[in-house]
Amino acid sequence: MRLYVTKNHEGLSELAAAYVLDVVKTKSTAVLGLATGGTPERTYQLLVEDHIKNKTSYKHIKTVNLDEYVGLSSNHNMSYRKYMHEKLFKHIDICDANIHIPNGAAEDINEECKRYDYNLDKLGYPDIQILGLGQNGHIGFNEPGSDFSQSTHLTKLTESTRIANARFFPSVEDVPVYAITMGIASILKSKKILLLVSGQRKANTLLRLFTEEVHTQFPCSALNLHDDVVVIADEAAMIELRRFKEYDSITVEQTDRV
Ligand code: GLP
Repeated sequence: MRLYVTKNHEGLSELAAAYVLDVVKTKSTAVLGLATGGTPERTYQLLVEDHIKNKTSYKHIKTVNLDEYVGLSSNHNMSYRKYMHEKLFKHIDICDANIHIPNGAAEDINEECKRYDYNLDKLGYPDIQILGLGQNGHIGFNEPGSDFSQSTHLTKLTESTRIANARFFPSVEDVPVYAITMGIASILKSKKILLLVSGQRKANTLLRLFTEEVHTQFPCSALNLHDDVVVIADEAAMIELRRFKEYDSITVEQTDRV
C-alpha cells in the first residue's frame, strides 16, 4: 500500500479526482468502481467541475457501485442510487445503461446478488475502485467477520455502522438493517484501488490498517492482499498514525495539495 497525505479533505479530493481523471482520459471505455458516503462527495464534485470546464467525456465509461441498502426504492432520498445520481451522474454525459448499482428493492435479493456478479464478470472489474472506510474497518458494507472469499452478497449492518450512518437519516431506526455489497473477493479484482480516509474519526482505523495483520475482524486489512492500493489520507486522519512508535518505518508520500 502506498500512503499519500494531504493537508485536508480538499487536497484529498483533488488527488483522488486526478487519479480517476487519469483513468478516464487514457481509457475511454474504462470501468469505474464507485463508493458513497461523505468522503468521496467532493471528489465527485471536482469530476463534475472538470466535465463542465474541460468537457471530459463519460460517454463510453461504465460504473459499478459497491453497495446499496436493502428495502429502499431506487428513488428513495437515502438510497445510494439517488446519491450517485445527485452527486455525479446527472451532471455528466454518462449513459444510463452503463451505470450499475445493486437493486436493494429487488424481490429476490439472492438473485439480485447473482445478477450483479454476472454483470461484473461481463463488464470486467474496475480499472480503478474508489473506497471509503468505515470506522470499524468496513469497506463497501463488508462488516467485521466477513468472509474474504465472498462476491456480492446480502449483509447485516452492525449497530455501529447504523449509528455512524444515522446522520444521513431522520433517526437511527430509519437506517436499514440489511444491505447488498460487493464482497472483498470482488473488490480485490479491481486493477487499482484508491482508499480515501478523511477526518479524525478515522484516525484509529487508519492506524490499525498500517499496524495490524490481515484478519477478517478488520475487513480493510484485506487490502494488504492487493498489489496496487493507494491510500489517500488527510492530516486529521493521520493523527494516531503519526504517534505510532514505528511510524518512521512507514513510507509516506507527502503531497503539497491544500
Ligand atoms: C458507508 C458505505 C461505505 C463508506 C462508509 C464511510 O457505510 N457503505 O462504502 O465507505 O460509509 O462513509 P463516510 O465516507 O461518510 O465516512
